[in-house]
Amino acid sequence: MRIRKDLILKYNQPGPRYTSYPPANYFHTEVTAEDYKEALVSSNNEQPQKISLYVHIPFCPRLCHFCGCNTSGSQNKALFRNYIDAVKKEINNVADLLDPSRKVSQIHWGGGTPNSIPLELVKEVMDLFSSRFRFEEQAEIAMECSPAYLELEHIDQLAAMGFNRLSLGIQDFNEEVLNIVNRDPAKLPVEDLVKRMKQNGFAGVNLDLIYGLPGQTVDNFRLSIEKAIEIGPDRLVTFSYAHVPWVKKAQTVLEKVGIPDAQEKLALMEMAYDLLTENGYVPIGMDHYAKPGDDLQKALVEKNLHRNFQGYCTRETTGQVYGFGSSSIAQLSNGYFQNTRSIGGYIDSINQNGWAIERGYRVTENEKIIRSVINEVMCNLFVDFNEVGQWYNTDAEKVKQIVAYDPEKLKPFLADGLLEINGDTLSINADGSLVVRNIAMAFDPQLAVAENQYSKTI
Ligand SMILES: C[S@@+](CC[C@H](N)C(=O)[O-])C[C@H]1O[C@@H](n2cnc3c(N)ncnc32)[C@H](O)[C@@H]1O
Ligand code: SF4
Repeated sequence: MRIRKDLILKYNQPGPRYTSYPPANYFHTEVTAEDYKEALVSSNNEQPQKISLYVHIPFCPRLCHFCGCNTSGSQNKALFRNYIDAVKKEINNVADLLDPSRKVSQIHWGGGTPNSIPLELVKEVMDLFSSRFRFEEQAEIAMECSPAYLELEHIDQLAAMGFNRLSLGIQDFNEEVLNIVNRDPAKLPVEDLVKRMKQNGFAGVNLDLIYGLPGQTVDNFRLSIEKAIEIGPDRLVTFSYAHVPWVKKAQTVLEKVGIPDAQEKLALMEMAYDLLTENGYVPIGMDHYAKPGDDLQKALVEKNLHRNFQGYCTRETTGQVYGFGSSSIAQLSNGYFQNTRSIGGYIDSINQNGWAIERGYRVTENEKIIRSVINEVMCNLFVDFNEVGQWYNTDAEKVKQIVAYDPEKLKPFLADGLLEINGDTLSINADGSLVVRNIAMAFDPQLAVAENQYSKTI
C-alpha cells in the first residue's frame, strides 16, 4: 500500500498521543498519597482485574541527545542500591493493599536503561514480585534494554529470572547517526543477541528504531530497516522522533546539527512502512509492526488491542498498571498516580512515609467512557458505540453524547475517504490509521491544544 503523504501533511498538527486518557498533561498536584491508597484498595473491584507491574529504572551510562524519557546519567552504585531498596519498600506497601487472589499478567521494566544496573538488583525485585504476587501462566515479563550494555550472559540471567520478552533500543544501526545523537552502538552484533534470546525461548523480541534524527537520510535509514528485517524480530517499532525542547533541553543540541523537516520525516516513514509491509510485517496502531501470528497482530484482527504507557497489549495481558520507581505512573481504572520525577526525592519520600505520589488524575465515570472510545479508535480502528455502551450499562446514544459526537468534526475524514460510518459503528481504514491521532481528537470533548504542549503527528 502506498502511504497517502498528502493526508499526513494535511493533518500534521500538534495533538495528544493518547497513551492515556485524559493525557498526562492533565495530571495535577492535588492528588495525594492518601488518594492513591484509596484507589489501590478500590482497584481490587475494578476492571481489568489482572495486575500489570511497571518498574522504572532512571539510569543510563550515557545520555542520548534525543531522549524524551525520564532518566539520569548517574552511575553511583550506592544510589542504585538505595533506589532499589526504595522500590522494594514501595512494592511491599502496594502489595499490602491489593487482593492476593488477583493475578499478574504483565511485568514491564522500562527507563532509562534497566539492563545497565547490576542484574542482581533486578533479581531482588523479581524475587520480591514472586513472593508477593501470583502470576498468570502466560504472564508477559519484559524489559527495555540498550544493546550497548547487553552481554549474552545477561540474556541467560534475565531468562532465568522469568523474563520472556526483551526490547532492544536500536534507534539506528548507522554509527554516524548514533554519534551525532551521543549514543553508544550495540556492544555485540544484534543478530547474536536475538539468537541468544530465541535459544532461551523468549516469546517476543522487539526492536525500537527512531526516524527523524539528524544525519538520517532515506538511503542510510533504508539500510537500518533492511538490517532489522534481516534480524527478524517478532515486533518492531519505528518511533517518530518527538522533538520537545521546551521539556527536554538537551534536544536543542540537535537543532544545531539539523533535524529533518516534516517532508523529510515523512519520506523516512514511508520508506520504512513500505519496506516492512513488503516484508510481511503488519502495522499495529501507530508506529508499531508485528509479524503475522504475533499476539498483537491477532488482537488487532480480533479487535482486542489495548494500550498503556508501556505500549500495546492484548486483552489477555491488559491489567491495571501499578508503577514503581521515580516518575512511574499507576494506571488504574479510577485514576492515574505519578511518583515524583526526582530520584533523590523519590528515595527520601518512600523512606519517610512509604509513598512518593507527586501528581495524578481521578478519572470520572464519563471519562472512562471517553477513554474506551479513544482506545477503540487508537488501537482497533473500530468503534461500536452499542458495545461500548454495554460495557458501561448504557446505550450508544448516551456514549455519543458523552464524547460530544459531532458528525461535522468527522466530515473532513469522510471526505478524504479515511473512515466509514454504518449506523452505530465507525471503521477507520488503512489510510486513516496513519492519522488516527487526529481522528481520536474528534472524540475528546475536553481537547484544547495550547502552543508547545504536544509534538506534531509527523
Ligand atoms: C527507555 S528507552 C529504551 C531502552 C534504552 N534506554 C535504550 O535507549 O535503548 C525507550 C524508547 O523510547 C524511544 N525514544 C526515546 N526518546 C524519544 C523521542 N524523543 N522521540 C521518539 N522516541 C523516543 C526510543 O526508541 C527508546 O528505545
Ligand atoms: S534513549 Fe534510552 S539510553 Fe538514551 S538516554 Fe534515553 S533512556 Fe537512556
